[in-house]
Amino acid sequence: AKLDARNTFGVAARAPMLVEVADTDALPDLFGNAMLRDGPVLVLGGGSNLLFAGDAPGAVLALTAQKIALLEDDGDIAIVRADAGVEWHAFVLWTLGHGLAGLENLALIPGTVGAAPIQNIGAYGVEVRESIHAVHAFDRDTRSMTSLTAAQCAFAYRDSVFKHAPDRYVVTAVDFRLSRTPHLRTDYAGVGDELAAMGIDAPRPSQVAEAVCRIRRRKLPDPAVIGNAGSFFKNPIVPAAEAEALQREHAALPMFRSGNEATRKLSAAWLIDQCGWKGHREGDAGVAATHALVLVNHGHATGAELLALARRIAASVRERFGVAIEPEPRIVGDRW
Ligand code: EPU
Repeated sequence: AKLDARNTFGVAARAPMLVEVADTDALPDLFGNAMLRDGPVLVLGGGSNLLFAGDAPGAVLALTAQKIALLEDDGDIAIVRADAGVEWHAFVLWTLGHGLAGLENLALIPGTVGAAPIQNIGAYGVEVRESIHAVHAFDRDTRSMTSLTAAQCAFAYRDSVFKHAPDRYVVTAVDFRLSRTPHLRTDYAGVGDELAAMGIDAPRPSQVAEAVCRIRRRKLPDPAVIGNAGSFFKNPIVPAAEAEALQREHAALPMFRSGNEATRKLSAAWLIDQCGWKGHREGDAGVAATHALVLVNHGHATGAELLALARRIAASVRERFGVAIEPEPRIVGDRW
């Protein structure tokens, strides 16, 4: 099966088998199939957080179930279940339309609900872990359906148990805990300024989402127009002493809290930008002109070419700043 239209980089790739699953109750039986039972299986959502540096080594699974259901609602706190196949941004709009706050800063992130917990999607000071109540999945080890609490998901910055055991779980649905009482966060990455520019001083959650959409549309290339997978590198987390030493040398280096006093999060975009990569292009593989963290496919780049460019970028950052940066998307068909 061809996967060219199933990855937002728009690179050519194939899989020996592609299975679309509409009814997740069929998963235990489906995994009786030898190729699915014994071989590598790649679960594909919107294809917006992976790079096919080669072909998929085994079966590719796409979950297409689309239900959204309000499971509990006490008038303030609500538990909402969304199937893995629901498009993420459509889900955010659904929650806001139902008066439920919590996901407004995560508007316009590409991909599906099922992919959201895998890398613990985050933007504008919020991570999805804060709203996740439980994750439902098919467990390939036990060949049965299971549910993980948020604690069992071991969420961290762009990380979860699902990333550490990439072949074990097939996420089928996610339960979110949302609130009718907004706790808005507008103090991060220009959201407050955007709201001010929109002339809004007491925003509703849907207006925060609109401000986030405006910033994203300005800074991040639309994968429907130019192939990309969002941030290609994670912001590196380094020991606090190392971060401070770097900042003494480079006063402008942006530094963020990491959720842990012993470490700091640095801006990969800034490090890459300083090395001169922004807007760089080699053939059809390049770095976005609007954001140094985003690799782009100008047309017919191969995944291998994009990976080679990413490696050169990381090598230059390491050489200049002594900092290792790592890819955020999953690399399929090769290794970092
Ligand atoms: N910067 C540069 N050069 C650039 C772009 C940014 O020097 O070309 C500097 C800016 O000055 C800014 C800093 O880098 O101080 C941070 O930039 P930005 O606010 O755009 O955030 P980021 O750390 O680069 C992260 C997420 C994004 C998310 C934004 C917004 C990661 C890997 N990326 O980017 O997530 O939208 O914050 O909060 O954590 C994604 O994961 O695909 C993604 C787009």
